[in-house]
Amino acid sequence: MKITSLQQYNDQVRKAKDSPEEFWSEKANNFKWHKKWDKVLEWDFTKPEVKWFQGGKLNITENCLDRHLEKKSNQIAIKWVPNNPNEVGVDLTYLQLHEKVCRFSNVLVNNGVKKGDRICLYMPMVPELTIAVLACARIGAIHSVVFAGFSAKSLSDRINDADCKILITSDGGFRGEKITPLKDISDEAMKTTPTIKLCIVLKRTNSSIKMQKDRDIWWHDEIDKVSLSNNAEKMDSEDALFILYTSGSTGTPKGIVHTTGGYMIYAEYSFRNVFQYNEGDMYWCTADIGWITGHSYIIYGPLLAGATSLMFEGVPTYPDAGRFWRIVEENKVNIFYTAPTAIRALEAHGLEYVKKYNLSSLKVLGTVGEPINEDAWNWYDKEIGNNKCPIVDTWWQTETGGIMISNLAGVTDAKATFATLPLPGIQACILDDEGKEIQEKNKSGKLCVKYPWPSMARTIWGDHKRFRETYFSAFKGYYFSGDGCFINEKGLFRITGRVDDVIIVSGHNLGTAEIESAIDEHENVCESAIVGFPHNIKGNGVYAYVICHQKPENKKKLSEEINKLITLHVGPIAKVDKIQFVDGLPKTRSGKIMRRILRKIASDDINNLGDTSTLLDPFVVQSIIAGKQKD
Ligand code: WT7
Repeated sequence: MKITSLQQYNDQVRKAKDSPEEFWSEKANNFKWHKKWDKVLEWDFTKPEVKWFQGGKLNITENCLDRHLEKKSNQIAIKWVPNNPNEVGVDLTYLQLHEKVCRFSNVLVNNGVKKGDRICLYMPMVPELTIAVLACARIGAIHSVVFAGFSAKSLSDRINDADCKILITSDGGFRGEKITPLKDISDEAMKTTPTIKLCIVLKRTNSSIKMQKDRDIWWHDEIDKVSLSNNAEKMDSEDALFILYTSGSTGTPKGIVHTTGGYMIYAEYSFRNVFQYNEGDMYWCTADIGWITGHSYIIYGPLLAGATSLMFEGVPTYPDAGRFWRIVEENKVNIFYTAPTAIRALEAHGLEYVKKYNLSSLKVLGTVGEPINEDAWNWYDKEIGNNKCPIVDTWWQTETGGIMISNLAGVTDAKATFATLPLPGIQACILDDEGKEIQEKNKSGKLCVKYPWPSMARTIWGDHKRFRETYFSAFKGYYFSGDGCFINEKGLFRITGRVDDVIIVSGHNLGTAEIESAIDEHENVCESAIVGFPHNIKGNGVYAYVICHQKPENKKKLSEEINKLITLHVGPIAKVDKIQFVDGLPKTRSGKIMRRILRKIASDDINNLGDTSTLLDPFVVQSIIAGKQKD
């Protein structure tokens, strides 16, 4: 059932709160189960342990594919649009996608993959990525998709963290005018990944690559060896479905683990309700499958709902900044879901790229990834939506698995810069520093959730303690999101941004610790500190304060070397926008860097530095400010 009126929304909120188990069982009943669950929910946020639909047996791909074959075998499941507008795209019907997934499942089985094995996918945005994801899920292997913009080091770290057995990649990936040499990067990564026994390579760019005997095999050769029938593995609701890495404020990236049953139910429920999906809609989410948005709202949510999901290989500015709008026109896209950073970037290119195209097919617009500023929101509303499309501002996280706070398109009201209301079933609240729920209106606090929801992360791969400490220790009995938020007089939620050391740059989560340790690899760097600062297009830019052993002779050269190291260790998305060489960093007596102060200096907000009394050496601050003004 879809919520289609404000009254229904209110009823559902009440029902989900009063009888959550009944509420979620009703949703679960719409799916195909081999065996129904014994128990709807068992939970304890102190451990934390959360189990939904225990004892239930199912396969998520039967729900994405097989379930639709009777009525929708000829409907397009994936509409793939290539990077180059002159290349012909691919439409995969539900029947064709089903066949391809079955075949590739057999390839994996043929190559010794068993239920529970981890498979790493490092691929461009091509249909085979979706096929590989679903094939893993079909045979019960746990997929770990690594965004194809990450470096060899980031790839090998992620492979090793989860002890992946197979790496699936391609010769290269097209992105605008560039080709990313994915196999070369994979080769570099595989030098330090002892658990990888096999690398399956898809031919996409025809780049010349090295194939290592006994390790590397071609996708197209393997496909020819197998049949197209495959019986899906019966999974337990709580069996792991995938691992997806996200950056934290400290340490290495966290392998967020999602399980099968609850994730399935919530992905479909949130997709259908937030976007108000109707049969026959053309739906397009511009994210990359390397992020959670792509998992939940390119693959799983839309396919579970039996929708047509458009998948785009390229970038918004190739061959020019009208590409998104051209795709909307050519495919009569009805529902369009993108990120504030893309909206701002395209706005900056000027209206002529928008005006060239007929966008009248659009009915619903969405945004995700960071707080959207009012200007960008208004531009999106007017120039793209022609003031007639509701904009859903969807707040959620890798850890939440699905959209948590958002208006429901056209059903509940939108308000610029507000994510507005939690979905029915989501008990979100705001806590003050003492852990008390804030009841006052417009008072900021920390955004938390006090009751489990089906698609919440269950653990961090191999480190449950870190899972507990990161999300369940700040406030006892609550899931802590890491975001700041307030609720206005009408009860609408406004997310104000991260309260920890994560910086969201162009919608990507970057951990300060990761970037700092990459910079510190430089032989002349003694210490560094990273903060975000407001950036017109990217939302946040990266600002680095760097202490050198020896005064740098050539600052420009050193800056370039530092960015090379970041590209190598983290990836080009984490490159710094500004570097300031300093003599010292503001630290507390206990040695903690006071990023709050560095953030203010980086954003030229120096009249209001706040309490500096705990600083070990207050003069450091003056010298940094003076240095910045000189630069
Ligand atoms: C962080 C999670 C969820 C998919 C993409 C990002 C920020 C996300 C919004 C929004 C304000 C938002 C939060 C959150 N964020 N959506 N609509 N308004 N902030 O997933 O990489 O796990 O990042 O993105 O700070 O904690 P992610």
